[in-house]
Amino acid sequence: MKVVVLTGAGISAESGVPTFRDADGLWEGHRVEDVATPEAYDVQPTVVHRFYDDRRRALGRVAPNPAHLALARLEEGIGDDLLVITQNIDDLHERAGSTRVLHMHGELRSALCRACMRRTPWTGDLGDFPPCPGCGVTELRPDVVWFGEMPYEMDRIFVALDQADLFVAIGTSGAVYPAAGFVQFASGAGARTLELNLAPSEVTGLFDDARQGLAGELVPRWVDELLG
Ligand code: APR
Repeated sequence: MKVVVLTGAGISAESGVPTFRDADGLWEGHRVEDVATPEAYDVQPTVVHRFYDDRRRALGRVAPNPAHLALARLEEGIGDDLLVITQNIDDLHERAGSTRVLHMHGELRSALCRACMRRTPWTGDLGDFPPCPGCGVTELRPDVVWFGEMPYEMDRIFVALDQADLFVAIGTSGAVYPAAGFVQFASGAGARTLELNLAPSEVTGLFDDARQGLAGELVPRWVDELLG
């Protein structure tokens, strides 16, 4: 059975990483359009860098929770038949042990050069405008997909959704496309669909089944059932 899992901010909430839409539409005190658009970066790159530099540093203070660990355990059990697509820019899936992970919205621990387009693993700050290790130009930006930009890996994602027998969305509000449309695509291609989320999302009605609760409890239970 081929399983495709889509994760969102809710799976990292119990690790202490703030979600996007649970705090008055603010993201750590910022309006999303002030820090997560190419226009914001053009107007005030220092503010945008400080925001992502803080979040990158914060990764050192958080750890994977039982939901991330359960997905790693599922990969141990079914190997290549599992693909995790995450909208998250943290690295908690990898630190839990998952290897088959696509970061459709990019990664905090990566820098993108606007001059040569090279992506470089990055754990330090970008706000001091370091040179690109590839071309030497000081045009490194956070390697995250901002509003108005094309998500990564869409070709591989749609192939996987097309072949999936089971599609499971975990901890995502269903507010941001294209990810919010994956359930319809997978369902149309013949997959069964399941949502695991704290509260009903904007697309709960499109799933065959939905369970509400904490990801740290729901995901390990669901993985136990599947590996049964
Ligand atoms: N367990 C399960 N679900 C949870 C938990 C939890 N402990 N805590 C919160 N949730 C749920 C919320 O109920 C909400 O539906 O997780 C969801 C988080 O939704 P968002 O904050 O909108 O995050 P996400 O869906 O990942 O956002 C999508 O929006 O701003 C952009 O690029 C950003 O990738 C992000 C995208």
